[in-house]
Amino acid sequence: MDLFNVYPINPINIVKAHGSTIWDAEGNEYLDLYGGHAVISIGHTHPHYVESLTAQLNRIGFYSNSIEIPMQKQLAQQLGELSGKGDYTLFLCNSGAEANENALKLASFHNRKKKIIAFTRSFHGRTSLAVAVTDNPNIVAPVNETDNVIFLPFNDEEALADAFNRYGEEVSSVIIEGIQGVGGIREASTAFLKLIRSLCDQYDAVFIADSVQCGYGRTGDFFSHDYAGISADIYTMAKGMGNGFPIGAVAIAPKFQASFGLLGTTFGGNHLACAAAVAVLDVIKSEQLLQNARTVGSYLMDELKKFDKVKEVRGRGLMIGIELPEELSQVKKDLLQKNRIFTGEAKPNVIRILPALNIDKDIADRFLTAFDERLKA
Ligand SMILES: Cc1ncc(COP(=O)(O)O)c(C=O)c1O
Repeated sequence: MDLFNVYPINPINIVKAHGSTIWDAEGNEYLDLYGGHAVISIGHTHPHYVESLTAQLNRIGFYSNSIEIPMQKQLAQQLGELSGKGDYTLFLCNSGAEANENALKLASFHNRKKKIIAFTRSFHGRTSLAVAVTDNPNIVAPVNETDNVIFLPFNDEEALADAFNRYGEEVSSVIIEGIQGVGGIREASTAFLKLIRSLCDQYDAVFIADSVQCGYGRTGDFFSHDYAGISADIYTMAKGMGNGFPIGAVAIAPKFQASFGLLGTTFGGNHLACAAAVAVLDVIKSEQLLQNARTVGSYLMDELKKFDKVKEVRGRGLMIGIELPEELSQVKKDLLQKNRIFTGEAKPNVIRILPALNIDKDIADRFLTAFDERLKA
């Protein structure tokens, strides 16, 4: 059997990793400033993480949600403390798309309405509802097409107010990333997030904050939407939550009513996944990674803004987009092939920096030196 060929692959076989350093099978060393799509939050093979998972695996790896799994409560408790959402409840699942799928369903169960407002350049995942609210027709199959989704221009307050004026009574939820990731590191404005909050309140619609990529401390706030001083009704999470172990979650405001069978999953919240997520939260807290994301992120952004060949630097904390002019579109590839630095991209010409939250200034400087070299080349 061959693999279903859907990924454009870099011919690199990574065999070992530690912190933000990775090695390929030939022994070449790379700097990882991408963490496999923003997943590596506390660095590769962090000792506390490895110990926690190993010990858990030696006890029990998996059982389903038909028995008590006390670590789920521990995870919910720690997550509530760190995020400041202690009064929310937690539903555990396995990925970002699944988290959004459940959030959108839950909103509709809650207010019995059908329409969803989403925004241009959004990415929310590839399952049926998640992809329907994703602004990329190329990945929406005919069976996922629906009239229930209204796409509006991102950060356009007037368009949002108009849409609520027209369809308000039918709108079940509004879903928005605090900073769009796949869309090119574009930040939702404070005024826009505040308007979403007030219109959702006015029309009994649910505010869903997709924090799958921009959340979990990456911007220096626990959820990137916190920056606007608002509380969403539902937060979705995944990526950095398990530092590579698949886990996703939905944090749900107190007004939502749970009932047996309303949501469910076989794998979600299993012992090993909880051990991974708890270990990540332990490290985020003990190593003060929100503070570090803020400090190192600001330093990187300030320095990047000094390059006059750069069109724009966007983002916050350690979620950074560097927009380059067309003639420098080769820089991302060269950073990997010539300087052995992993970064991400967004179309057409944005380099995405999504490193582990514990990178230090030395690592930031290594990147800046290499980036300077590439711009001069
Ligand atoms: C903002 C956002 N939401 C949802 C997803 C989907 O997550 P997953 O790939 O874990 O399903 C992604 C993935 O890139 C994302 O960036």
